[in-house]
Amino acid sequence: MHSRLTYTLATLLLSAATSVASSHLSEESGIHRRHPAPEDTMFERREPLQARDDSSCIDPDPANTVTDRMNIALNSSGSGYVLSLCPGKQYIITAPILFAAPNQEISTQGYPTGSDRATLVVDGPVFNGTGHTTAVDGTCNNCSGVKLRNIQINGTRLGAPPTGGGANIEMGGRNSGQLIEYVKSYDPRSWSCLHVQEGGLQCNNVTVRNNDIGPCGSDSFQQWADGISMACANSFVLNNLIDNPTDGGIVLFGAPGTRVENNTIWVHNQTLLGGINMVDYDPWQGDYTGVVVTNNTIAGGFATDTTDEDNDQKGTNSEDVIIKIGIAIGPRTWFGDRYKSNVSTSGIVINNQLTGAFGYGIAMTSARNFTVEQNVLVGNTSFIGSRGPNCSSTDQTPNPQPFVIDFNSVQSSTTQFDFTSVPDGDSLTCVMPPQGGDYWPFGGNPDPSSTAIPVSVPEPSSSSSSHHGSSAGRTAGLAIGIIAGVALIGVAAFFIRRWAVARSAPRSRFRRSEYMHNKEWL
Ligand SMILES: *[C@@H]1O[C@H](CO)[C@@H](O)[C@H](O)[C@H]1NC(C)=O
Ligand SMILES: *[C@@H]1O[C@H](CO)[C@@H](O)[C@H](O)[C@H]1NC(C)=O
Ligand SMILES: *[C@@H]1O[C@H](CO)[C@@H](O)[C@H](O)[C@H]1NC(C)=O
Ligand SMILES: *[C@@H]1O[C@H](CO)[C@@H](O)[C@H](O)[C@H]1NC(C)=O
Ligand SMILES: *[C@@H]1O[C@H](CO)[C@@H](O)[C@H](O)[C@H]1NC(C)=O
Ligand SMILES: *[C@@H]1O[C@H](CO)[C@@H](O)[C@H](O)[C@H]1NC(C)=O
Ligand SMILES: *[C@@H]1O[C@H](CO)[C@@H](O)[C@H](O)[C@H]1NC(C)=O
Ligand SMILES: *[C@@H]1O[C@H](CO)[C@@H](O)[C@H](O)[C@H]1NC(C)=O
Ligand SMILES: *[C@@H]1O[C@H](CO)[C@@H](O)[C@H](O)[C@H]1NC(C)=O
Ligand SMILES: *[C@@H]1O[C@H](CO)[C@@H](O)[C@H](O)[C@H]1NC(C)=O
Ligand SMILES: *[C@@H]1O[C@H](CO)[C@@H](O)[C@H](O)[C@H]1NC(C)=O
Ligand SMILES: *[C@@H]1O[C@H](CO)[C@@H](O)[C@H](O)[C@H]1NC(C)=O
Repeated sequence: MHSRLTYTLATLLLSAATSVASSHLSEESGIHRRHPAPEDTMFERREPLQARDDSSCIDPDPANTVTDRMNIALNSSGSGYVLSLCPGKQYIITAPILFAAPNQEISTQGYPTGSDRATLVVDGPVFNGTGHTTAVDGTCNNCSGVKLRNIQINGTRLGAPPTGGGANIEMGGRNSGQLIEYVKSYDPRSWSCLHVQEGGLQCNNVTVRNNDIGPCGSDSFQQWADGISMACANSFVLNNLIDNPTDGGIVLFGAPGTRVENNTIWVHNQTLLGGINMVDYDPWQGDYTGVVVTNNTIAGGFATDTTDEDNDQKGTNSEDVIIKIGIAIGPRTWFGDRYKSNVSTSGIVINNQLTGAFGYGIAMTSARNFTVEQNVLVGNTSFIGSRGPNCSSTDQTPNPQPFVIDFNSVQSSTTQFDFTSVPDGDSLTCVMPPQGGDYWPFGGNPDPSSTAIPVSVPEPSSSSSSHHGSSAGRTAGLAIGIIAGVALIGVAAFFIRRWAVARSAPRSRFRRSEYMHNKEWL
């Protein structure tokens, strides 16, 4: 009893400190815009002295030969060849465009960054649930240093159920030094807008930056798709805008040594299962050593009401959308006991910002040697949802709340002080958003049909306050770990209370984000 009281008081005091810090943060906010510097540098480096001759870009017509013409250009031109597409044009392709030699590039002539980027439109046949799904493939055994830049990919799922096959973009493989930048990838027929393959764990150092991703998939059951699916070691995922993914916004399949920084992930009219996922056991056996996830902004749903009629500080969302888990750590958060006692190990999740409506902000179950600190709530937030029909009758799904941790399966980790210990943090994506009602916070984009970024993205805390918060978090994390062990039963009773007695439900089958090695097409 004494321990629990201490814990509660400490939590109260510390969360008061957090709110002060958060409001301070939001005052420093500025609208997130892609940083212009890399683009400028690029133009400086790339733009020829005279405008290029139009004939140097490949003609999209006749469309019935353009797939072959592009593939022949790549497979007959050798290393360093640039396949230049014409600005504003659509290329209707019926098979993947295959990089074929080192340091090749596919890009739009003049490197535009907006709607002038050429578009590859996936248009090959689909039959019996499988078919043409991939627009560009850079996974050949000779594809180190290839670059995909300044183009668009329209995956043309167009509301159909998912098709078996690769992502819109398949990169990585047994290669290193690849680059994907200023690419807009959306509406994939299959499971991801952009997949970087592990290449038998030989893939190294792929940079994915300044891309516009989404929408990806549908939020109907098992029709989900990822924004960015990263399995390549020592990679960089920087400054990407990921709008309306449905499975994971950024899914790290281990990918040890990878840095995920400055990305913005948000939803506007589809519920997203996980903002950033560190849950997949395959193909790296849960190894997240050296992975750093920092300064990303994850924005759940916001009220779409224009006025707060009853002054309760909350409103309705016309599509009832939330992000179920802002950042998910450990296979159990997602897959329950499928991977038994295996854990995600050695990742660092620091200084990320969460805003809007979630089930859980960060959920951590089955992890070892993780550092999770200084992740903050900014602007207005809601933690909402309830047990869905596919929650297992044997799981005690915790109440929605910002930071949940299941100390039964988390070891040797440093965690921020405001985590709540829960007795069972398994299979949390079974929670469902409320159907209607005044639950969503104000402050995001009020128009659900708009794809604009819903929030101003605040500056993260300065380095001096970082240092201070960090040591506090370390101590408190340890203390809570110890106390939670002692007070587990009491805390369990406290948090379980609001759940109705579980109905019997089939063991959930919604674990769609498991790893897919496939690279199939007709
Ligand atoms: C993150 O974004 C900010 C502003 O857009 C930029 O100054 C900073 O360099 C970025 N960080 C990285 C690692 O790209
Ligand atoms: C090059 O691509 C064309 C068109 O897809 C294909 O028919 C041909 O076999 C390829 N050649 C090589 C060497 O891969
Ligand atoms: C790889 O690309 C280089 C440079 O174009 C070429 O010389 C070599 O034959 C290619 N190797 C394979 C296996 O395709
Ligand atoms: C369709 O696919 C299923 C397996 O996914 C296979 O069993 C069946 O034979 C296929 N049907 C046709 C007509 O190819
Ligand atoms: C993608 O292509 C399909 C088929 O051409 C088209 O109907 C759709 O409008 C395109 N999407 C966008 C956003 O342009
Ligand atoms: C990673 O690849 C980039 C090219 O995208 C290259 O400039 C950089 O030097 C590589 N980094 C390492 C550590 O090999
Ligand atoms: C963090 O991200 C925001 C928005 O992307 C950016 O403005 C800021 O400069 C970034 N900070 C760092 C330290 O990269
Ligand atoms: C713990 O994680 C850190 C950061 O990834 C790593 O450097 C260290 O080697 C890990 N320690 C153990 C014992 O795995
Ligand atoms: C995970 O760990 C268990 C031991 O608890 C082991 O039996 C199992 O094979 C491991 N791998 C997977 C994929 O579950
Ligand atoms: C629950 O699972 C079943 C299949 O097992 C699926 O048809 C149904 O849509 C799921 N319900 C929800 C709310 O996810
Ligand atoms: C938070 O919501 C209140 C209304 O409940 C609104 O007045 C305020 O502007 C919102 N704050 C932000 C940062 O959007
Ligand atoms: C989401 O909004 C976009 C416009 O931003 C619209 O094209 C799309 O049909 C909407 N999707 C759903 C599932 O409502």
